[in-house]
Amino acid sequence: MIFTVAIDGPAAAGKGTIGRAVARELGFAHLDTGLLYRAVGTRALHDGNGVIDPVWAAEIARQLDPADLESPDLRSGRAGLAASKVAALPDVRTALLDFQKRFARRDGGAVLDGRDIGTVICPEAEAKLFVTASDEVRAARRHAELGTGTVDSVLADLRARDARDAGRDVAPLRAAADAFLLDTSDKTISEGVAEAIGYVRDRIFAGRG
Ligand code: DC
Repeated sequence: MIFTVAIDGPAAAGKGTIGRAVARELGFAHLDTGLLYRAVGTRALHDGNGVIDPVWAAEIARQLDPADLESPDLRSGRAGLAASKVAALPDVRTALLDFQKRFARRDGGAVLDGRDIGTVICPEAEAKLFVTASDEVRAARRHAELGTGTVDSVLADLRARDARDAGRDVAPLRAAADAFLLDTSDKTISEGVAEAIGYVRDRIFAGRG
């Protein structure tokens, strides 16, 4: 079966948690596409001694191996910031396109979460969710996850990243016109997950009908 669940939204809105839960529930494969940009950004920052060279970043993206996505370092705030910088480079995005498109249409169903899944990677996705939450809620969640810094500094970082992700020329963060909007600000994890699963199940049944 070919069935793609595209999940987009700003940082720390709950996309990853919801994506993993939907994939587990349906037996689909899951790809956190932010990890691709985190891996490229981290390596580009390292190789450039703290300065990202756009040409080299695109080369890293072309050579990226799925095993590069396993490193726990990729979850850090520094990796997130580097990711948002390389994610604005058209050549980096182009280099990562094919892998994501193939993953989306793999047999057995796939869930991808990111910023441009429903708009660029897989506009034909059978189910599209746009997951959001207020800035304050997202900052509090990310702060608890990172366990370092202050909520205010995490909030400032998130806003800077959102502005870059939504303001860039290529594949900016935005909801697809046909996406189901899920605001998780006032929801528990299990409420958000249940709503997402309910929506995806409806889309599966709609496709069969
Ligand atoms: O979801 P995340 O925080 O791991 O994403 C890290 C950065 O990567 C984020 O600032 C935007 C970028 N990104 C993107 O541009 N497109 C995607 N499909 C996924 C992430």
